[in-house]
Formats: sequence, C-alpha cells, structure tokens
Amino acid sequence: MQQSPIIILGIESSCDDTSAAIIKDGKILANIIANQDVHEAYGGVVPELASRAHQQNIIPVVDKAIKQAGISKSDINAIAFTNGPGLMGSLLVGSSFSKAFALAMDIPLIEVNHMHGHILAHFIDEENSEKPIFPFLCLTVSGGHTQIVKITNYFNMEVLGETIDDAAGEAFDKVAKMLSLPYPGGPVLDKKALLGDPNKYSFTHPKVPGLNYSFSGLKTSILYFLKRELKLNPGFIKENLNDICASVQKTIVDILLIELKKAIKETGINQIAIAGGVSANSELRKRLASFGAAYHIYIPKMEYCTDNAAMIAISGYYKFLDKDFTEQSIAPNARMKI
Ligand code: KG4
Ligand code: ZN
Repeated sequence: MQQSPIIILGIESSCDDTSAAIIKDGKILANIIANQDVHEAYGGVVPELASRAHQQNIIPVVDKAIKQAGISKSDINAIAFTNGPGLMGSLLVGSSFSKAFALAMDIPLIEVNHMHGHILAHFIDEENSEKPIFPFLCLTVSGGHTQIVKITNYFNMEVLGETIDDAAGEAFDKVAKMLSLPYPGGPVLDKKALLGDPNKYSFTHPKVPGLNYSFSGLKTSILYFLKRELKLNPGFIKENLNDICASVQKTIVDILLIELKKAIKETGINQIAIAGGVSANSELRKRLASFGAAYHIYIPKMEYCTDNAAMIAISGYYKFLDKDFTEQSIAPNARMKI
C-alpha cells in the first residue's frame, strides 16, 4: 500500500520578511516571500512597522503558497512556524496565525527555532544537491547571529562559538550605512566589492577567546578610518567605494573563516555547511568552495540563505516525523537559544 504524502505549511515572520512555504515529503512546492520595503527609508528594520506589515501580508502570502503548490487547505497535515528568536511583534503575527490555522483545520501545530531552520534548510530535497552527513559543523551568519554550531542530528545542535557583540550581517549593514549604501547593505556591498581591490585597505582583526567572534571593534575602526580619510579628501568614499567594499568584505570573511578553521581542527569534523543571510555573500561562498578535497562543503541555494519559510517547513517536516507537536498555549520567545 502506498503511504499518503506528508504536507506541511511553514510560516516565517521573525524579522522583516513574511513567508509561507508548502513542503511535500521534503520537496518544496512553494516558497513565497513578501519583503517589506517600508524599512528602507529608515536604514534598518523598524519593529513596529514590521509587525504591521506582517499583519497585512500573512493571509495573501499563505493563500499564494497554497495556490502555487496546487493543493487545497485540507491537504495540509501540520503547520510549522517560527517561535523565536526574532522581534516579538513580528513573531506574534506568525504564531497567532499558525495557532488559529491549526485549530480551525484540526491539525498539529509545530514550533520551530529560526536558527535550526537556517541549518535544516540543507535537508530540503533538491535535484543535484547533497545533504550534510551527521555530525557536521555549520557557520550560521545572519543579520542577528554569528555562530559555529555542531549538529549531531536533526534536533541536537550545540553552539561551539558565537559573536560577543554584533553579528556579521550587522557589520555588513552598518558599514554599508557609513558608505551611504541603501538598506539592507550586505548584498549591495557584496556587488560593489566584486569590482574592487580587496587588498587595498587592511583592518585589524579582533582578539576574542575560544571560537567566538566580535565585529563591533571592526565597525568602529572602519568609522575612524573613513573619518580620517574624508578629512584629507572629502571625495574619498566616492572615489574608492569599490575598493573600500572589497577590503571590508575580505576582512569580515577572513575573520569568519579563521574561527571556522579552528573549529574544524578542534572537532576533527570535515563536513562543513554555511547558513543564514550572509551565506549569500559571494566572497564567503568562493573561499569555502576552494577549501579543497579534504572537506565536504555544503552551500545553500541562494533562495534558502536569507529568511524564508521553506526552512521552517523542512524543520517542521522532521518534527512531524518525530511527532514533536506544540501546545496551543505556546508563546513566542524573542531570545530563544539553539
Ligand atoms: O538570515 P537573514 O535573512 O535575516 C536574519 O535572520 O538576520 O539575514 C539578513 C542579513 C542582513 O544583514 C543582510 O545584509 C545579510 O544577511 N546579507 C548579506 C548578503 N545577502 C544578505 N551580507 C553580505 N553579502 C550578501 N550577499
Ligand atoms: Zn534568519
């Protein structure tokens, strides 16, 4: 007898992207993302505006995902949603919607940790893509997090090192802001860096014990460097923009990889993955790809790097197989740990 498929609706609303995805037995049928342009004018995410935009977007996004997947609401076996970490107001929209949907459809509710989601995106069934073998290490780099995580199975993850202040994505965004690039600055800085000389300027690396990171000192030293140069030449940024971007990007990637290499050496694990928004960075992807044959490197598809509900749906799928369901009394946890 053929087993009926397992269909999960995933919901992501932890920051400024409202996303809904449908996954059928590990394969993505739809992954709809509504970005919120409203934050651009402020140069960063405004939490209050983010929750309002989620409220406007959530139903249309879910509706579109269901239509694109070619299924009907009643085919969905469970709903998985991001319960943290993230912005409380944003999380509340996704979790309230998910609770109501589960109740109305009489299906299980599954909470997902956003950071697990970024990592488990590697287990989405894709043609020509290999999945990591346990145990593996994952460098999770986003706008809010920078972590080296050891993953022993779908549900067992241990943080080996993390940032003690700013996240790598935050460093990209804040430097981009100093350079008057539009928000979010990371992808824009990456594009400019492709045209510049990464060795033109050098910045000192932080000294942090263990496998931890720090980016706030780098940000300050870049700010003072720019102030100094602008005093000598008011056109400095304009005239050297691509080289500044390339040099900053190289420094951030160097810092990320030094600790990752230390973690590889300390654990003896050669299965390496990257995840999170900054894993879309071209320099990071290029440098990892050239690690050599002794390592197995897993780089996510671009669409699964930045926030998306496909990663929440795949996490929900594994929790569904494990019958790990969530009570209706659950409340979001803005500071949820891995
Ligand atoms: O994972 P994500 O979408 O949201 C969070 O959970 O934070 O990550 C967003 C971050 C932003 O800081 C953005 O600037 C950065 O990822 N980012 C990049 C690139 N694409 C996105 N940073 C550097 N290079 C990129 N190509
Ligand atoms: Zn994220």
